[in-house]
Amino acid sequence: MADAIALFASSRRNGNTGQFLDRIAAEVDIEIVDLGSKQISQYDYEHRNRGDDFEPLMHRVLMYDRIVLASPVYWYAVSPPMKVFLDRISDFLDLPDLVDHGRRLRGKTAYVVATSIYDEVPKPFIGAWLETFDYLGMRFGGVAHVNCRDGYVPSKHEISASEFAAQIRSQPG
Ligand SMILES: Cc1cc2nc3c(=O)[nH]c(=O)nc-3n(C[C@H](O)[C@H](O)[C@H](O)COP(=O)(O)O)c2cc1C
Repeated sequence: MADAIALFASSRRNGNTGQFLDRIAAEVDIEIVDLGSKQISQYDYEHRNRGDDFEPLMHRVLMYDRIVLASPVYWYAVSPPMKVFLDRISDFLDLPDLVDHGRRLRGKTAYVVATSIYDEVPKPFIGAWLETFDYLGMRFGGVAHVNCRDGYVPSKHEISASEFAAQIRSQPG
């Protein structure tokens, strides 16, 4: 098993966020799951979507203690596939046969990887993550965010990637 699992959600696999995450993963062993390649439908109060890819993926995620959430900033928020994934975590808080599994999120370490076109990660974006981790009882391991106003520039962003990889490696799994 890798050191961490990353849930990656961007409208393009090899765009800014994808390249930044790949650069981080060059220095720490991360299993990258592209949420765009999964069939995960939006939250359903009636849970008629239990047969889609979400539950097996979530069981896989729960095998890890370090979970990386990677999304570009789209309108101050996460990308749509990441939002759907987050909404579906509710299945693991609601459904009687999944609740015990969902509780295993507690104490795990969550990391955020993001790109935008500003130097600072937007407050609503990071704020929503922090509240979410708090609600789920997860530890916040840190955020790696780079300004991709000029696209992903390997020479400019590799220090951030390298430092973040070291941060993931150094924290208890
Ligand atoms: C639909 C959309 C909405 C965006 N909204 C924001 C935003 O609110 N704040 C920001 O700084 N950048 C915004 N951007 C710019 C992206 O965050 C930035 O280009 C990012 O690096 C794209 O990553 P990607 O190549 O993985 O999609 C937006 C881009 C798109 C396509």
